[in-house]
Amino acid sequence: MKDQNQPVVTIRREGPVGLIAIANPPVNAMGAAVRQALLDAVTELDGDADIQVIALYGEGRCFSAGADIREFGKTPVPPRLPDVFDRIEASETPIIAVLHGTTLGGGLELALSTHARVILPGAQVGLPEVKLGLLPGAGGTQRLPRLVALRSALDIITTGKFIDAEEARDLGVADLLAEGTPPEVARAAAYAVLDGKLTPRRTGDISAQIDQAVLDQTIAELQARRPALQAPIKAAQSIGHAGLPLAEGLQKERALFLELMESDDRQGLIHAFAAERAVRRIPEAEATPRTLNSVGVIGGGTMGVGIATALLQAGLSVTLIETAQDRAEAAQANIARNLDGAVKRGKIDAATRKRLLDALQIGVGVEPLADADLVIEAVFEDMDVKLDIFSRLDGVCKAGAILATNTSYLDVNRIAAATSRPQDVIGLHFFSPAHVMRLLEVVVADKTAPDAVATAFDLAGRMKKVAVRSGVCDGFIGNRILAHYRKVADYMLEDGASFEQIDRALEGVGFAMGPFAVSDLAGMDIGWATRKRKAPTRPASERYVEIADRICEQGWFGRKTGRGYYLYEGAGPRQPNPDALTIVQAERDRKGITPRDFAEDEIVARYMTAMIAEAARVVEEGIALRPIDVDAVFLFGYGFPRHLGGPLNHADRIGAAELVARIEGYATEDADYWQVPDLLRQLADTGRSFADLNKE
Ligand code: 3HC
Repeated sequence: MKDQNQPVVTIRREGPVGLIAIANPPVNAMGAAVRQALLDAVTELDGDADIQVIALYGEGRCFSAGADIREFGKTPVPPRLPDVFDRIEASETPIIAVLHGTTLGGGLELALSTHARVILPGAQVGLPEVKLGLLPGAGGTQRLPRLVALRSALDIITTGKFIDAEEARDLGVADLLAEGTPPEVARAAAYAVLDGKLTPRRTGDISAQIDQAVLDQTIAELQARRPALQAPIKAAQSIGHAGLPLAEGLQKERALFLELMESDDRQGLIHAFAAERAVRRIPEAEATPRTLNSVGVIGGGTMGVGIATALLQAGLSVTLIETAQDRAEAAQANIARNLDGAVKRGKIDAATRKRLLDALQIGVGVEPLADADLVIEAVFEDMDVKLDIFSRLDGVCKAGAILATNTSYLDVNRIAAATSRPQDVIGLHFFSPAHVMRLLEVVVADKTAPDAVATAFDLAGRMKKVAVRSGVCDGFIGNRILAHYRKVADYMLEDGASFEQIDRALEGVGFAMGPFAVSDLAGMDIGWATRKRKAPTRPASERYVEIADRICEQGWFGRKTGRGYYLYEGAGPRQPNPDALTIVQAERDRKGITPRDFAEDEIVARYMTAMIAEAARVVEEGIALRPIDVDAVFLFGYGFPRHLGGPLNHADRIGAAELVARIEGYATEDADYWQVPDLLRQLADTGRSFADLNKE
């Protein structure tokens, strides 16, 4: 953490060389104090007749991660970044930037406003503002196209991607690649300028070549692909002004930037960025994680194979256990196939693939897991099977080993009670495919030890996953909420909306896929099995839609059987399964329902309201630590539209009072399903929001 008394920018004079270092850990974000200090430092050194060249670098892990995101949405405090950068560019004394670690957003814009850039190997640069619903608003869209080809500038700015040091040099973002520590390279670069080996120049003096046809084509493609996302489109439009004199282009860039700053997308995307990090704040954060080198995985199905692949990629050694040798070998082959995919996508090279596979062992029975530091059980969802496995693990695993279940809804307390060491038992709920999906629900049972929880979060970090802490309940955070709101899609279907219309409406607001397309993809048999499991405890009063059961009874489970709600025979866009349409109508007739029209807005409103209601209950019961944890679960595990920031961020936009009114309105049709959660009513009564709860 930063010591409040330490200056955020330091100056050093070494003969004719002035060194400026930004020192604002952890990532040298440029909040008001840094902006002012940078301005003062440059003004001071530029006015010093003894200083002939200035070199600027970052202390700590990177040059700078850009503007301080935490200031967004608040009243701006001068000086503004563009003004600081204009002053830097105008400096009579040449200024060189030395880039190491990550140089992002305003950090790169700072570098672009200096007179030359030297980059260290391993560094990465980028203008990721579009990922936050913004565009580079401190000169990035005007200065980058002056240094690199138009196509490269469009690519870097509209995708927000990171580029490595070599590419940055090759494209012209950086002038030189040099090895050493940032201060060493800064000194050397300053002398290179003094010796005439590095020629500084003002980026604003270079003219950008704007090919209107290339620009128009890029904008048309962005509009076609993601019409709802304004930031990349506006960023490309802003680049189009780079052919103007710099001051004029900068003004236009600023106007577009401020429009985006006011947008809901910007708020939602920054909330999503914060959510990924906020979930790390858990009560067990201070506990020391246990050592984790070797992991056992029980079960070689899709889940076990995905988990094993992800563990290997995180550098752990894995022992995968199956019930028979041939099944274990089949799992091994599937893991190898996953790694082949990673090689094909350029994520790992062939040598790494071999090394990872060498770290995999397979076996039969639990005995080979005696020395594992962690065991993850990923067999099918049957409590008796799991109880048996855990009591056998209890008999063979070494003391201190963590015993985890990948169950997606079963009671982890009961599983823990099957062992003599409930403090070591935890739920690690991965999402399929486990080597791709970023979410990991860490299910903390009543007796789980704090250091076991800390170990799970540590593991998630190593696996680059987003871990969210959940309490024990049927379905934990995600599947519990899903089980509730998924029903409303069926209710609307039975009442008159078509499954295509429902999917289209939700995809229209940015869901990766509508609920019926998701059922087809996941396999309708999975939901069918869950409904059968819950049937005995389903209250007689609960409205139950049988359409999905009727479709499953035909042996149609979605994509894997070629048909479900839709047909998957041959290429082309999805087509509704005509037999499914007949089933829908037959079920409406059987129940005597006269179908009514649904507008897309109503479909979205009912679906979101149902989701928010159950999410509020999950927070109210303490299953999720905070509303933002629920948001993270849906953003990273359920394809919730990122620009909406998660269900409870979206709830704040709708407003608690409006949500209560909606639920009360819907309750006139079905008072059993539509109930106002206490927490939501409290928020409505007190005028507070879920965001307020996140701050507590
Ligand atoms: N402003 C404020 N805080 C920031 C920040 C920023 N730009 N970037 C990172 N942080 C904070 C994080 O929130 C986190 O805080 P926490 O410890 O309290 O949770 C801490 O710094 C460390 O960050 P990470 O945990 O993400 O560390 P990593 O090493 O995993 O990643 C990173 C570092 C690659 C820099 C990553 O944090 C990142 O991508 N940051 C955002 C960069 C970005 O989008 N910059 C553009 C800002 S917008 C802008 O510059 C506008 C301009 O054009 C006008």
